[in-house]
Amino acid sequence: MKKLLVSAGPTRERFDAVRFWSNRSTGRMGYALAAAAREAGYQVTLVSGPVTLEPPEGVECIRVESAAEMAAAIKARAPEMDIIIMAAAVADYRPAQTLAGKMKKLPGRLVLELERTEDILAALGAAKQPGQVLVGFAAETDDLLANAGEKLRRKNLDWIVANDIGRTDRGFGSPDNAVVMLGRGGERFDFDLAPKLEIARRILAVLSGPVQSR
Ligand code: CTP
Repeated sequence: MKKLLVSAGPTRERFDAVRFWSNRSTGRMGYALAAAAREAGYQVTLVSGPVTLEPPEGVECIRVESAAEMAAAIKARAPEMDIIIMAAAVADYRPAQTLAGKMKKLPGRLVLELERTEDILAALGAAKQPGQVLVGFAAETDDLLANAGEKLRRKNLDWIVANDIGRTDRGFGSPDNAVVMLGRGGERFDFDLAPKLEIARRILAVLSGPVQSR
């Protein structure tokens, strides 16, 4: 049985005992990919940030909170995976300091210092196993295809799934999505607006076999 790992949801980067830096990802696209991969006969590991969804039946689910925890969970399992799909909206920054207690307010402005998190996908691309298929997502508001193509090459990916998050009827927080899937060999597939499970099935069909590029 082929092994597939998919990441999903946001990460949370703590800055004190009760506050964190995060994003609006609901995890629905990643969970749909996990369900579609299970349906397609893969042994599926889902590495999930904090979301309210139930993992699909028959899928191993590992829950994490921060980008650092997600990186550790994924990198420990990556070498044995045939396919890795990074659908998580990993925070690019985290507070430079985390306070153990709850921060008290002071008069005036607060300036919060953020530092970079590790780019998990780039690390996976740099350590890619022979034959392993690596898939990224590109959430963009501008120049969708140019930015996605650039990420595909820069992170040494096999496929990138580009979604336009500047629209309210798809992507972030929506039950539906419309994506363009670009391959490192110049392949291109356009999947029009459909429920995320349907989009996930189409992505899996491309990853699993010879489908004609448009
Ligand atoms: N990603 C990751 N680790 C990070 C940030 C992003 O693995 N620290 C992955 C995401 O899961 C996604 C891909 O990288 O598959 C692209 O994420 P995106 O936020 O679109 O792009 P970035 O590489 O963060 O670039 P930018 O924010 O400049 O657009």
